[in-house]
Amino acid sequence: MMGQSSRLLLLLAFLLAADLSGGQSCYEPNDPEPYVYFSHKTAYQLILNSKFKPVPYCRPTFVWMFIRPGTSYPNTNESMEIRQLHQFKNRVIKNHEERRNGHLCSNVLDSLKRWEFEVNPTSEDDISPQGRMDMQLLARRMKDKMSEVLAKEINPNTFKIYASEDRKVMNSAEEFARTMFGNDFRSKIPIEKIENNSSFIGLESCPKWTDAVQNSEASLFRKSPEYLDMVSQMSKRLGFLENITDSIILAMYESCRYHKALVIESYPAWCGLFTRQELQLLEYHEDLDYFYKYGYGSEINTKVGCPIAKELMGYLNDVAKNDTDGPSAVFRFGSSAGLLTTLLALGVAKDTISLTHSNYPAQYRRQWRMSRVDPFSSNFAVVFYKCEQGDEENKVMFYLNEGVYDYPGCNVGLCSWKFFENKFKDYLGPNGCNEEVCHDKSRASDVRCGVFVAALIPIVLAYLSV
Ligand SMILES: *[C@@H]1O[C@H](CO)[C@@H](O)[C@H](O)[C@H]1NC(C)=O
Ligand SMILES: *[C@@H]1O[C@H](CO)[C@@H](O)[C@H](O)[C@H]1NC(C)=O
Ligand SMILES: *[C@@H]1O[C@H](CO)[C@@H](O)[C@H](O)[C@H]1NC(C)=O
Ligand SMILES: *[C@@H]1O[C@H](CO)[C@@H](O)[C@H](O)[C@H]1NC(C)=O
Ligand SMILES: *[C@@H]1O[C@H](CO)[C@@H](O)[C@H](O)[C@H]1NC(C)=O
Repeated sequence: MMGQSSRLLLLLAFLLAADLSGGQSCYEPNDPEPYVYFSHKTAYQLILNSKFKPVPYCRPTFVWMFIRPGTSYPNTNESMEIRQLHQFKNRVIKNHEERRNGHLCSNVLDSLKRWEFEVNPTSEDDISPQGRMDMQLLARRMKDKMSEVLAKEINPNTFKIYASEDRKVMNSAEEFARTMFGNDFRSKIPIEKIENNSSFIGLESCPKWTDAVQNSEASLFRKSPEYLDMVSQMSKRLGFLENITDSIILAMYESCRYHKALVIESYPAWCGLFTRQELQLLEYHEDLDYFYKYGYGSEINTKVGCPIAKELMGYLNDVAKNDTDGPSAVFRFGSSAGLLTTLLALGVAKDTISLTHSNYPAQYRRQWRMSRVDPFSSNFAVVFYKCEQGDEENKVMFYLNEGVYDYPGCNVGLCSWKFFENKFKDYLGPNGCNEEVCHDKSRASDVRCGVFVAALIPIVLAYLSV
């Protein structure tokens, strides 16, 4: 957050700029609180909502958690995209200093001049120091809040940790486990590897999923009047007579949000070139993309999380029955796709109206807002409570990024187990998960397969729309 003195400096800079340009106004960001919501690449420390209060008369007895890796460096493709901005930056400078077409104030241009991008190729797509810190802080807070559950003898029966083989996922799991269980965690609780082809990975391991992804909405949005206007405004601002390309706009945005997430206190040069409204538009573009890629926008996505939901329901059911043989806590580490798959299976962050390329203004208050739902280090916890007062002993609460998730049908987030059990009882049943969703095992009999799927769709739809 910006201090008082830097705000004053900004104001001074603004006044100076207005003066020196001889009445002609130049562009510079004038938001007292810069916009920091960058969809699925938002810095966790900037959105985290950890106002945790114990639930009165209830004590937590079991925790299940899914955690996305901490802030990572750009991957190889993203690095390449961002690197092309060096050349672009020089063109912008030239527009200002030689052609005199540019509209950036000199302090904004100076900050752009100082911009450099370098990621060690060996660090690409790996967790960053900030990401490691996110994991440590998260583990520390969980340990404090859930001390009743987590202060148990540490062994492979009381705690489970699962992580996919991806390097940043594994490194995040290790960082978390080190804070939670001590430096010698490896000898106490092994991190169990989830194979790449396992349904517990989420959408990414689903062979049919790649086929199902068809994301024309995001590209249609890039043709919408509001988006084209943004491109045209930005082009003029930077001193171009032609409109700059989508790929440049997206590279600027990518650079901006990585920089902010990697160095939280920074005020990245590329971020400063966008207005608040433009950043909101780009945020929607990303959310729209994810809505069809990983969200409620594609029907198959809502079914892939079944095995994860089934596992969760199984654990909760055991705790409800006072079965004490199970673990006290289960921590699953995986990608965004895995986290979102889990949320979809439980109906979290679901809007009544789909996101489309044409309803941006109507989606201003959308649930599907990745800046809040799926920033770097995003996490989803399900906690089972045993309560001493009130109608029921067994309660369940969801925490999304450490904030209480106000699940529809529950009491400010506190759900009766009966409600939950009833809502998701199909996951507990013998036919809980339709294996055919991802793996087409019954090629021999297409007819049977068709009937099977047709019979399942109404069931799945029924519990999604309750
Ligand atoms: C990188 O880009 C190449 C070529 O466009 C593409 O085939 C590949 O899937 C991309 N990789 C990632 C990790 O996005
Ligand atoms: C699984 O995926 C990870 C990264 O995506 C890769 O490093 C690893 O080699 C893969 N493992 C197997 C067995 O394919
Ligand atoms: C995943 O792949 C491994 C090794 O190829 C195999 O042994 C295992 O059965 C596979 N699992 C699933 C769920 O297909
Ligand atoms: C740039 O885009 C705007 C909005 O689509 C359009 O009106 C304008 O004609 C374009 N400018 C050029 C030079 O093509
Ligand atoms: C679980 O234990 C509590 C208190 O120990 C008891 O009141 C409750 O009836 C038990 N529930 C079941 C399903 O056995």
